[in-house]
Amino acid sequence: MAHDYTIPFNHSSLMGRELEYIAQAMKIGQIAGDQTYSKKCHALLEQMLGVRKVMVTTSCTHALEMSALLLNIQPGDEVILPSFTFVSTANAFALRGARIIFSDIRPDTLNLDERQLESLITPRTKAVVPVHYAGVGCEMDVISDITARHGVDVVEDNAHGLFGKFRGRWLGTFGRLATQSFHETKNITCGEGGALLINDPRLVERAEIIREKGTDRSRYFRGQVDKYSWVDIGSSYVMSDVLAAFLYAQLEARDTIQAHRRRIWEYYDGQLRDWARDHGVGCPVVPPHCEQSYHMYYLVMPSLQQRQALIAHLKTHRILSVFHYVPLHHSPMARRVAQPHAHCPVTDEKSDRLLRLPFYNSFSRDDQDRVIDAIRHFQP
Ligand SMILES: Cc1ncc(COP(=O)(O)O)c(C=O)c1O
Repeated sequence: MAHDYTIPFNHSSLMGRELEYIAQAMKIGQIAGDQTYSKKCHALLEQMLGVRKVMVTTSCTHALEMSALLLNIQPGDEVILPSFTFVSTANAFALRGARIIFSDIRPDTLNLDERQLESLITPRTKAVVPVHYAGVGCEMDVISDITARHGVDVVEDNAHGLFGKFRGRWLGTFGRLATQSFHETKNITCGEGGALLINDPRLVERAEIIREKGTDRSRYFRGQVDKYSWVDIGSSYVMSDVLAAFLYAQLEARDTIQAHRRRIWEYYDGQLRDWARDHGVGCPVVPPHCEQSYHMYYLVMPSLQQRQALIAHLKTHRILSVFHYVPLHHSPMARRVAQPHAHCPVTDEKSDRLLRLPFYNSFSRDDQDRVIDAIRHFQP
């Protein structure tokens, strides 16, 4: 149970003016969506990332669902994504009837292996969904080149990667669409939340409609129509302004948050890399052309048994470490919606061996030293 641990895996904390802004949202009587604080979040992200349009959503899962609707994914269309990801990356497209084609990952960054991508593309391929794992960019120049040649759309699942860069360019600005998560485990959070980043201006108007239950309510609020109507399919993907107020305060504190997370990441790396090398343990790989988002620190143990043993060892020190992702190509749902016999040996191997260490904004150096000490006393 989580409460048996004195060092949790994740812990949410206030990073700035969250409570003040929530009180302000209540005071001005704006707690539904798309009001003052949502607009502030949109403007801040658009300006900072240079994205045509940002819309905050109820989750990254829902931003992915919006992407599938916006790209008109139909039954039988194929969508390529890594098996090593969270279930929502696949589910959003499976909901539209897509056939999921699993790609394996690179052994270094654990990102979709762009060297396999072209062999997975068929005339039915509609989209590729690269996941910037741990906020380290996928090889977007190769992926963009291949997808452009085949006329296939890219949706970046950037749940981990806000403020990461690939070759100097923000993650989330490569795909026709990109999605962010503000779930409590993320660098910047509002508990549950997400955003859709729209890089193709032709998708903006329909995105507004899909996000507002299939209605043109946004046009109505802008005074462009005198009543709003049901004009398309859609759902309720609008974030409450109470959460947007919380989120805006976190976004304002982004420099402090990112600098702190960078110190945590570099301290783990500095303290553990030699130990890891001596014990056959892998550490994160960040290629020189990637600026990571400092979302997580993980170890890749020599075997599944040793990974489980280290989790148990840390538990005896009351430290919670976790593993993920269980490869999607082995899941019961994959048998129904994915290509049979997906071959993802790197995914299988890494997913058995990977372990994530505690990492959160209020993580103290003392607590981090406890984690590092405990790991160093583990005999792999
Ligand atoms: C890669 C990836 N995509 C999507 C999601 C879903 O995010 P959310 O919880 O905001 O729906 C997650 C969740 O952690 C994730 O890791």
